[in-house]
Amino acid sequence: MSNAIATKVATDMQAASFIREMFEKGRRLKAEHGAENVFDFSLGNPNATPPEAYFKALAEVAADRQPALHRYMPNAGFDETRQAVAGFLSREYRTTFDAASVIMTNGAAGALNVVMRAICNPGDEVITLAPYFPEYRFYIEQAGAKMVLLQADDEFQPDIEAIRAALTDRTRAIIVNTPNNPSGTVYTDASCRALADVLCTRDSAEQPIYLVCDDPYRRIIYDLDWCPTPLTHYARTIIVSSYSKDVSIAGERAGYIAVQPDVPDRALLLNALTMLNRTLGFVNAAALMQRVIARCADALCDVDFYRGNRDLMCNALLEFGYELNVPQGALYAFPKTPLPDDGAFVDVLMKHRVLAVPGSGFGRPGYMRLAFCVDRATIERALPALRAAIEEVRGG
Ligand SMILES: Cc1ncc(COP(=O)(O)O)c(C=O)c1O
Repeated sequence: MSNAIATKVATDMQAASFIREMFEKGRRLKAEHGAENVFDFSLGNPNATPPEAYFKALAEVAADRQPALHRYMPNAGFDETRQAVAGFLSREYRTTFDAASVIMTNGAAGALNVVMRAICNPGDEVITLAPYFPEYRFYIEQAGAKMVLLQADDEFQPDIEAIRAALTDRTRAIIVNTPNNPSGTVYTDASCRALADVLCTRDSAEQPIYLVCDDPYRRIIYDLDWCPTPLTHYARTIIVSSYSKDVSIAGERAGYIAVQPDVPDRALLLNALTMLNRTLGFVNAAALMQRVIARCADALCDVDFYRGNRDLMCNALLEFGYELNVPQGALYAFPKTPLPDDGAFVDVLMKHRVLAVPGSGFGRPGYMRLAFCVDRATIERALPALRAAIEEVRGG
């Protein structure tokens, strides 16, 4: 192996290569058949139009010629932005956040890196629940910690007994993600409470266990008025989130960390998070976006657009015979593959010019992820192919 790059990075690149391979296969398929004839459900790139409030705020901010607006600022972000986000969070989580508990970051991804670095010692364990967002492994390992992967139950709710059994003296955190990428599952209030209860059995001042809620899909829900959260049941909770999905501005990298109002050692934790935002090289979240968010912290994209896509795709999948827990939130359907080998079925789909991601990539073999953040017409046109693929493997 070449010595040009670090050994760990070379290994990580190998592990991540399935995404590159999928991307390559998709690219070849599009070159062969024309991009419009390939039904690409492989990417979680939110495609709803950002809300009008966002464009209005953006125009206002862009027109402002005051000299200091584009300079460095405190590493945690502008006060007015943190205040606006705290107000939004207080309404959304039904508890009181103040501006000091919010740190503006480079997306939820940047936030997760900052949090992992702030809390993990080398060799610490961070629990994640499969199916899971595969980037977690990198964030955890970049902080020198070890990912402990547990399976969620058949409904994709946290398996509390599995978590209880996995807690050790090295457990430093658990990352939960509801609504979930890739399953679309929303944790029930009972799950949230049980999760908090089981962590309470081991958490202590000497060996604190953080609950990290990765919540970027929180407001993209279809069947409920409000997404339950463990936040109010467990003080040592840290939220990481962003406006990537719910305002549909993923490319702008506007995110934040918010710590639970009663988190122990709050000032120390916030100082550590702020310093890491700087020393990891993010320095601060982009000034322009912070000014925009300060003006529209409650803005929300058209969730009905995604609901329509979900209904169209999921009703059809069920009708064709796919086994599926209908997603209650987020942007993905996660059906069982009709073949036990999810990779083999994804290859069958590819023959029908449909691109999906095997569940193995999310730590849950036997499933596949179909992202429905695409034009409605793409789903409509892909339905015959989704039907043909299942009929082909069932010998229909
Ligand atoms: C579960 C989950 N967490 C975090 C992220 C990172 O989002 P961002 O950094 O754009 O806020 C994503 C993006 O797809 C995600 O699906």
